[in-house]
Amino acid sequence: MSTRVVAIVGSYRREGATASAVEAILEGARSQGAVTQTIRLGERPIEFCTNCRQCTQEAGEERGRCAQQDELEQILSAAEAADLLVLASPVNYYNVTAVFRRFEERLLGFAYWPWGQNSPVLRSKRRPRKAILVAAAGMPGFLIPIMTGAARTLRMAAKMLGAKPVGQLWIGLTAGKPDYKLPENTLRRARRLGARLAQSA
Ligand SMILES: Cc1cc2nc3c(=O)[nH]c(=O)nc-3n(C[C@H](O)[C@H](O)[C@H](O)COP(=O)(O)O)c2cc1C
Repeated sequence: MSTRVVAIVGSYRREGATASAVEAILEGARSQGAVTQTIRLGERPIEFCTNCRQCTQEAGEERGRCAQQDELEQILSAAEAADLLVLASPVNYYNVTAVFRRFEERLLGFAYWPWGQNSPVLRSKRRPRKAILVAAAGMPGFLIPIMTGAARTLRMAAKMLGAKPVGQLWIGLTAGKPDYKLPENTLRRARRLGARLAQSA
């Protein structure tokens, strides 16, 4: 069966650095026969977590369902069916974007946290899928995991989604002009990463 790759993208621009890098990763994955899907968080009706914690009350390995009726369930089902996730966000104010964070807060159903217990416990320690983490920023790329919380936030999202990070792309110097385009060597690197990890997923 084909490898299934699902990208969850927290950028606001369809043609920005993050979206372009993700598309190049998916292109690489498709070159190895993978089936790909892109979920643009900013274009999907997803509500904020209300902290009702209904999704965390029942014990067991199965993810708790959110009480809100929106597209979250569809997105999580797609993520759970994936072999490889691409989790991507621009860096805004030294962390992921608001739409990515809004999505991440809605992942609480992967944890068991009944009232009376001080902190959540992940329902399952298994990580049956892999993840590629992607962030784009105005600062040099190598500083993203050092100076910002974006890498940590993306890693946490991967953990909640049962995915083990196996690749990362920190793309810097993207904010110099409004129509900035990723250089060919970055696109090539992204394609190679997608092809390699889709093959081994
Ligand atoms: C509101 C806002 C906050 C930003 N904060 C940072 C930041 O803290 N550090 C940084 O290096 N770049 C920052 N940037 C630059 C973006 O990360 C950069 O333009 C990125 O390429 C945007 O992603 P996109 O090209 O995928 O749309 C910020 C941009 C905006 C609009």
